[in-house]
Amino acid sequence: MSSSGPAIETRGITRAFDSRKGFLFREATRTEALRGIDLSVEQGSIFGLLGPNGAGKTTLTKILSTLLLPTSGAAYVLGHDVVREADWLRPRMGLVLGGERGLYNRVSGRENLRYFADLYGIPLGERESRIREVLGRVDLDGASDRRVEEYSRGMKQKLHLARGILHRPEILFLDEPTIGLDPKSARETRKLVRSLVADGVTIFLTTHYMFEAEELCPKLAILSKGRIVARDTVDRLRHLVGGDRTIEAEAYGFDDREVDSLHRLPGVSKIVTEEFGPVSRLTLRVRTDETGPEAVRAVLANHAELSVRERRTSLEDVYLDLVEEEAR
Ligand SMILES: Nc1ncnc2c1ncn2[C@@H]1O[C@H](COP(=O)(O)OP(=O)(O)O)[C@@H](O)[C@H]1O
Ligand SMILES: [Mg+2]
Repeated sequence: MSSSGPAIETRGITRAFDSRKGFLFREATRTEALRGIDLSVEQGSIFGLLGPNGAGKTTLTKILSTLLLPTSGAAYVLGHDVVREADWLRPRMGLVLGGERGLYNRVSGRENLRYFADLYGIPLGERESRIREVLGRVDLDGASDRRVEEYSRGMKQKLHLARGILHRPEILFLDEPTIGLDPKSARETRKLVRSLVADGVTIFLTTHYMFEAEELCPKLAILSKGRIVARDTVDRLRHLVGGDRTIEAEAYGFDDREVDSLHRLPGVSKIVTEEFGPVSRLTLRVRTDETGPEAVRAVLANHAELSVRERRTSLEDVYLDLVEEEAR
C-alpha cells in the first residue's frame, strides 16, 4: 500500500463540457457533467457508484484515472493528486472502460496482452508467466491463442479485465463492467471482482444495475445529474428513504380516504400510487415492526380482490426514490 489514508478522496470536483450546436454551430452549449463531487473511498474495498445514463459516472471515472482533467476541485488517489502526480499514479492504477474499443482484433488475446505488458514496462522475463496468470484468472486460457475478432462480447470483456490487472494495480476502476454481457459472463465478472478485493485491490465500480451494486458494494454513492444524492451502506440507504420494509397492495382502484388512513398508520413514511390498466398498486415504505401487512389488509378490508405483499426494501426502491426526488 502506498499510504494508509483513503484510496480516493475528492473535493468539490466539477467538470463542464463546452460544445456547439445549431445553425453553423453558432450556439454554444455547456453541459455540467459533474457539479461538486465530495467522496472518500477506503482502501481494500469495493466502492460502487450507481447512477442512470448521463449521470456523470464515466466522467468521474476518467478524472480519477487521470484520463480527463477536472474543471475545478481536487482529487487524490492513494494520497496523490490526479492532475499533478498523474505519472506517479498511472502504473498503480488499472482502468477498464466498457465497450469494444481498445483491443487489437486481428491478433490473439495473448498477443494483445504482450503488447500491453510492454506498454506497462513489465520485464520481459516475467511477461509470459504474468500473462498466463491473468488469462487463468479471467478464465480465458482455452481461447488465448485465438484471434480476438472471434471472441464473444463476454470474452472481450474478460480480456479487457485481464489487461486491467496485468500490471497488478493497487486500485482498479471498472466502468460498467458487465454492461451488455450475458448473465453467465456477468456472474463470472462479479466473481472475479470479489476475488481481486480479497487480494487487497481497491475497486471503484460504476453501474446502473441496482442489484449489482447491492451484491458487490458494501458502500456506495448514488449519482444523479452530476451530484451525489446519497452515500452510505446499503442498509443505511434503506433507512434514509424512510423504511427498510416495502408493502405493496393491489386492487381494482383505491380511494383517497383509504390512502389517507394508510398514511396515518405508524411507521409509514411514503406511499406511491401507480395504475396498471384497471389495477392500482400502492407501494408503502414502512419501518420494521411498526406496520405489517395485516394492518394494511385491515384498512383495505372492503376490497373483494386484494393482494398484499411485504418484502425488504431493495436498493432499487431506494435508488428510484432518490433519483425521482432529484428530478423534481
Ligand atoms: N466529451 C463530451 N462532450 C460533451 N458532453 C459530454 C462529453 N462527455 C460526457 N458528456 C456529457 O456529460 C454528461 C455525463 O456523461 P457521462 O459521464 O458519460 O455519464 P454516465 O457515464 O453516467 O452515463 C452527459 O450529459 C453527457 O452527454
Ligand atoms: Mg458511462
